[in-house]
Amino acid sequence: MAPPLLSFLFFTLLLFFSAHSELCNPQDKKVLLQIKKELNNPYVLTSWKPDTDCCDWYVVQCDRVSHRIISLTLFADSLSFQIPAAVGDLPHLETLDFHKLPNLTGPIHPAIAKLKNLKFLRIDWTNLSGPVPDFLSELKNLTYLNLAFNNLSGSIPPSLALLPNLGALFLDRNKLTGSIPHSFGMFSSVPDLYLYLSHNQLSGTIPSSFANMDFSVIDLSRNKLVGDASVVFGANKTTQIVDLSRNLFQFDLSKVVFPKSLTSLDLNHNKITGSIPVEMTALNLQFLNVSYNRLCGQIPVGGKLQSFDNSSYFHNRCLCGAPLASCKS
Ligand SMILES: *[C@@H]1O[C@H](CO)[C@@H](O)[C@H](O)[C@H]1NC(C)=O
Ligand SMILES: *[C@@H]1O[C@H](CO)[C@@H](O)[C@H](O)[C@H]1NC(C)=O
Ligand SMILES: *[C@@H]1O[C@H](CO)[C@@H](O)[C@H](O)[C@H]1NC(C)=O
Ligand SMILES: *[C@@H]1O[C@H](CO)[C@@H](O)[C@H](O)[C@H]1NC(C)=O
Ligand SMILES: *[C@@H]1O[C@H](CO)[C@@H](O)[C@H](O)[C@H]1NC(C)=O
Ligand SMILES: *[C@@H]1O[C@H](CO)[C@@H](O)[C@H](O)[C@H]1NC(C)=O
Ligand SMILES: *[C@@H]1O[C@H](CO)[C@@H](O)[C@H](O)[C@H]1NC(C)=O
Repeated sequence: MAPPLLSFLFFTLLLFFSAHSELCNPQDKKVLLQIKKELNNPYVLTSWKPDTDCCDWYVVQCDRVSHRIISLTLFADSLSFQIPAAVGDLPHLETLDFHKLPNLTGPIHPAIAKLKNLKFLRIDWTNLSGPVPDFLSELKNLTYLNLAFNNLSGSIPPSLALLPNLGALFLDRNKLTGSIPHSFGMFSSVPDLYLYLSHNQLSGTIPSSFANMDFSVIDLSRNKLVGDASVVFGANKTTQIVDLSRNLFQFDLSKVVFPKSLTSLDLNHNKITGSIPVEMTALNLQFLNVSYNRLCGQIPVGGKLQSFDNSSYFHNRCLCGAPLASCKS
């Protein structure tokens, strides 16, 4: 038997070393345990035990050097919860991902504004409600912002265009109203932005500022947008995919100058007039749908235009020629 003093020293040293073999930052661990509590200790967080290293816990990730928590991801779970306020106390978080959580309700918590290092923010396929908050524009490191498939309402904050590193913005499949902000034609970010605003209740016209904006992908389908959409196009752009279907757009298609890069164009269900310009035969289109408009005249022969079936062209005022019936002479 060792003398009591020696055993005491031995156990103190043992404790010291075992505590230091744990990589997890103690403050982060405290916050994660608070999050677990706010979520009512769900089954999915069983591995979050106070006596274990939080860098080994399920659904979180530590930075390899700083050992701070940089990622929190919750997928496909029936968990009923609101975004926990404590999430805002993980200052090194770069990825916050809540995906396919039908019982995630409530608003986008203001605590998220504190996460200045966030690069990837996805809260999609959940039941979030309330507005798309203005404070998201303070997260200057964001490269990817996805709030699609929720119950978000209100208008789109113009300040989102100030995000300097944004590469993709998904606000589709919500209940957003109002018009597309003028600032969205002046994104300060990378030129090849992906913009998805489809399946909302957006109204008004496309801002004239869009003439200067070169999106890679732009999807404005299934809204209540009106007027001239030709500003989306332009000879000098590098846009590949454009979906403006199921709106109330009204403009002359013959006057549109398409970018050479265009591979997919969906304009179905609008009030577009004029004819299909012969320049469209020069495009390397993989998808085209101009059905349910007010187009007239012969479908130009050449390029990919005859490779689509008649449903790409049907229900127009007087389009004719292959793949539709031939024009009466
Ligand atoms: C989601 O919540 C509803 C109502 O609170 C509940 O009936 C349902 O079972 C929950 N869904 C799942 C998958 O647990
Ligand atoms: C939102 O909740 C409803 C039931 O309240 C559910 O039917 C729906 O699938 C949920 N939405 C999503 C995107 O999970
Ligand atoms: C973005 O992240 C870097 C570190 O990755 C950090 O130094 C910088 O402060 C962040 N930017 C902002 C605006 O907080
Ligand atoms: C979200 O919207 C759907 C469809 O309108 C509705 O069934 C559901 O109850 C809403 N969910 C919440 C949490 O408001
Ligand atoms: C496209 O670029 C060319 C050459 O840079 C320039 O001359 C022309 O004015 C531009 N056209 C438009 C519509 O910006
Ligand atoms: C074009 O759109 C119409 C209307 O949604 C649809 O009925 C038709 O199948 C579509 N055709 C193609 C080739 O996408
Ligand atoms: C479209 O093509 C199908 C078969 O290819 C044909 O049955 C149909 O009548 C055509 N519709 C029109 C409007 O030309």
